[in-house]
Amino acid sequence: MAETDQAAPPTDQLATMDLTETSLNHAFSDRVLIRSIVGRPDGGAGLAGKRVRAGGWVKTGREQGKGTFAFLELNDGSCPANLQVIVDAGVAVLNKLVATGTCVVVDGILKVPPEGAKQRIELRVENVVHIGEVDPAKYPIPKTKLTLEFLRDHLHLRSRTNTIAAIARIRNALAFATHSFFQEHHFLYVHTPIITTSDCEGAGEMFQVTTLINEAEKLEKELKENPPPSEDDVEGAKKLVTEKGEVVKQLKAAKASKEDINASVAELKNAKEKLSKLEERFKLKPGIPKKDGKIDYTQDFFARQAFLTVSGQLQVETYACALSNVYTFGPTFRAEHSHTSRHLAEFWMVEPEIAFADLKDDMNCAEAYVKYLCKWLLEKCLDDMEFMAKNYDKSCIDRLRMVADTPFVRISYTEAVDILEKAVKDGKKFENGVEWGIDLASEHERYLTEVKFQKPVIVYNYPKGIKAFYMRLNDDLKTVAAMDVLVPKVGELIGGSQREERYEVIRERILEMGLPLEPYEWYLDLRRYGTVKHCGFGLGFERMILFATGIDNIRDVIPFPRYPGRADL
Ligand code: 4AD
Ligand code: MG
Repeated sequence: MAETDQAAPPTDQLATMDLTETSLNHAFSDRVLIRSIVGRPDGGAGLAGKRVRAGGWVKTGREQGKGTFAFLELNDGSCPANLQVIVDAGVAVLNKLVATGTCVVVDGILKVPPEGAKQRIELRVENVVHIGEVDPAKYPIPKTKLTLEFLRDHLHLRSRTNTIAAIARIRNALAFATHSFFQEHHFLYVHTPIITTSDCEGAGEMFQVTTLINEAEKLEKELKENPPPSEDDVEGAKKLVTEKGEVVKQLKAAKASKEDINASVAELKNAKEKLSKLEERFKLKPGIPKKDGKIDYTQDFFARQAFLTVSGQLQVETYACALSNVYTFGPTFRAEHSHTSRHLAEFWMVEPEIAFADLKDDMNCAEAYVKYLCKWLLEKCLDDMEFMAKNYDKSCIDRLRMVADTPFVRISYTEAVDILEKAVKDGKKFENGVEWGIDLASEHERYLTEVKFQKPVIVYNYPKGIKAFYMRLNDDLKTVAAMDVLVPKVGELIGGSQREERYEVIRERILEMGLPLEPYEWYLDLRRYGTVKHCGFGLGFERMILFATGIDNIRDVIPFPRYPGRADL
């Protein structure tokens, strides 16, 4: 190590750090996490007397005692609770610190506040290391209570709010719990492609991935700046090639000197090159390339039509049919024009796929997974859940407990329709009519789970006409081995099925649905060679967060929501 590296540390290093408890130290930063102080069972009281460096953003700040000191509520996102910080006027210019949103890093001593205070510990500042100032007149998210709708217009700053931060921690916990659940059950995490050439749900709701449009735009601009040659230009160049060719011929016939022949050959070569360039540019046409009246995708980036995936299922099946238990967890995209509080154009899906397993195993896995997620939040995220209960949905914690402890109801689609028809007969009004064969609407799903059973409901064996081609045909030839998990607050949380593993049957189903066979040939191979009974499901990750937190709109539980008309940042 160079000598200078050993010299006195830079002045912003906390030389006097006396943190004996290693848990307090943050591994990759010279400040301690606020959660390691206030998140302790004793609220931090046991740390009184310790000297620490803390950093965060001011939630509230106020000057007190006629400007002799300031109280700051500091939050660094590591937990919902703030650290109370007290700065004397002798230490810093107080009015630079107190504006909401200001970033401060301070060194100080932890002290137990005077009796009667809300906090169990506070930080008395000895030195202010950093101030990231905020002009309160311009800061877009001041302290006043802001609506979630308003915050959607400030995506880059909304993570500074208590609500969005709590949702971010809950989301993180659910992602960790997901990996934990599947890893504990020996599922292999498989990364399926984002760009795909197969439409999994066959619903035609895919975003296309193409470079044809930007290529066309580029060409159009280029042709404007540098117009293509005219027919006369090309003819002229052709004539020149003929003339130069003639010259070479004559020189050769006249047995001219080697130098003269070589020089004329070079001129001919030049003229030919010029001609071929002109001919190439002459062919350039502005606009998207077409062939036989249709867009010519052979000229597109992948030499064929490509899309953003709507589900990783089809691809993950290739791994399930080799590695048995697998799951994928990634972003999925749907170009549906639904402006509802349950739909996004970009959302995340957790999709396990199990070989040697049927619909019942699928339902068992879905139920165990959802219960595991609920228990995880109760055990590891209770402070954030309490925040949600206090501010958004009084019943959210009870709902997690109920789901963690109650067996899910399981009814067939036919039974579900019977229940709904009876409800209508008894006076219940639905916007959408009920009869066997309909796709259950959100209002029907919510009636079943919220009113009729008041707990999660799994509906299985749906009419084949309303479900995807890959679901296994039941012996009645009318229904398929599909299942949806419906939960209070959200409706459909999970959609899954046993997959059709019989080659002839699935081939027939693809044709029956009017889908082309060619793009699915690889998928059919899984049935042609070594086919196996298998099943899987997809859990809408944001729907799970809605269910857990009680937040009303799905746009508030994903960091960067994408929906018709909006894709900020
Ligand atoms: O029911 P879906 O369409 O099922 C599939 O995509 C299957 N390929 C899954 C599988 O078997 N591997 O979607 C699964 C779940 C839904 O139950 C819902 O929770 C969520 O994904 N979902 C959406 N979430 C947010 N925005 C949207 N537009 C959604 N569409 C579906
Ligand atoms: Mg579905």
